Amino acid sequence: MWWYMKESQVWLWLTAFVLCGGTFACTPEQQVSDLEPVVPWREAPEHWPEMNHPEDNALNVARWELGKRMFFDASFSIDGSVSCASCHLPAHAFGSNTPTSPGAFGAAGTRNVPSLANVGYLPYFLREGGVPTLEMQALVPIQEANEFHHNIVAIAEALAEDESYMAQCIQAYGEGPSAFTITRALGAFQRGMIGGNSPYDRWVQGDEDALSEAALAGMELFGEIGCDRCHGGHLFTDHRMLNNGLHASYEDTGLERLTGNPLDVGKFKVPSLRNLGVTAPYMFDGSLATLDDVLIHYMDGGYGHPNQAEEIAPISLSTGEMKDLKVFLLSLTDSTFIAWSASLIP
Ligand code: HEC
Ligand code: HEC
Repeated sequence: MWWYMKESQVWLWLTAFVLCGGTFACTPEQQVSDLEPVVPWREAPEHWPEMNHPEDNALNVARWELGKRMFFDASFSIDGSVSCASCHLPAHAFGSNTPTSPGAFGAAGTRNVPSLANVGYLPYFLREGGVPTLEMQALVPIQEANEFHHNIVAIAEALAEDESYMAQCIQAYGEGPSAFTITRALGAFQRGMIGGNSPYDRWVQGDEDALSEAALAGMELFGEIGCDRCHGGHLFTDHRMLNNGLHASYEDTGLERLTGNPLDVGKFKVPSLRNLGVTAPYMFDGSLATLDDVLIHYMDGGYGHPNQAEEIAPISLSTGEMKDLKVFLLSLTDSTFIAWSASLIP
């Protein structure tokens, strides 16, 4: 049967053969489900779209391991005090639990740290979408004065002093530490941050008990009141840049900083609603502390900024309906992803 299997399946069968004592005594289902996962990253459920990997950065174990090491390495910051994981906290779906997070020398942050769960599916990065690839995005925190305040060439030179980093880079990319290997490895590691096993996903896959009556009622409401007009698709975002009426005026003007167009003031990327259970506070500036605050914001219909999206208008919900909607939103939190993330901390 091997001739029509993918390479990974062949290995799965060979390992199953060994684990089953060299005979195919167990059923195929048992052989597959009893195995340890064959890759260290998280895989997407079957009903999700394919993730695009760049041609020069296909995911493999050596690349993922190298990226993981870098992600948790505080020597990337100029004063050796913060790593990527100091802001993108594993226990919070690689987001944070504070409005902003300090960088090197304790410099104050300006925006709320977004979750990196499923970041490999995003078409562009940062809250105004100004960076086109995950590889390029890594340069932002490295150089930003209030993040690592460092320089990628200097980081590469320092890593090259370390024999084990040198060996890992060569194994993963065929060359030593460099801007290329650093940005690629961080990209590869982040593409493995896939959280698609929430109660909602299990319900989609046919487990009728995965969602309570309240969650199902909340799911109905989510569509009825139009949340899905922006928060649609498997990540609960349509990836548009919109003003959701959060403020009457914006100090941080969002997309306008990129385009200079006054019609873009207050427009930010529609975020995914996955893992909201561990990513409070919410919005680009972390200004809404709880999900209740978020629902009250939408029920009020926003502050009416001239650029506010037309979809945002007052909504009336009873206390019971608010509760159901919240139960549904929380059913998008993947606790198995969060446990896996926490297990990566060195
Ligand atoms: C000092 C805190 C801090 C550190 C350190 C940090 N980040 Fe971030 N990260 C943020 C904030 C804040 C944002 C949102 C910035 C914005 O939208 O302008 C962000 C955004 C991102 C995004 C974009 C996500 C999206 O939804 O568009 C990625 C990817 C990312 N960071 C990866 C990393 C990686 C990789 C590292 C380490 C090399 C890192 N970050 C280090 C705070 C941090
Ligand atoms: C017009 C499009 C639109 C509609 C409709 C909409 N949202 Fe949003 N939502 C956004 C945008 C844009 C943001 C990001 C704003 C920011 O970063 O400050 C956002 C942010 C959020 C956040 C914060 C997520 C985070 O991690 O910070 C939550 C929660 C949320 N919306 C829930 C809802 C719910 C529930 C509804 C229905 C009542 C809804 N949204 C309707 C556009 C929309």
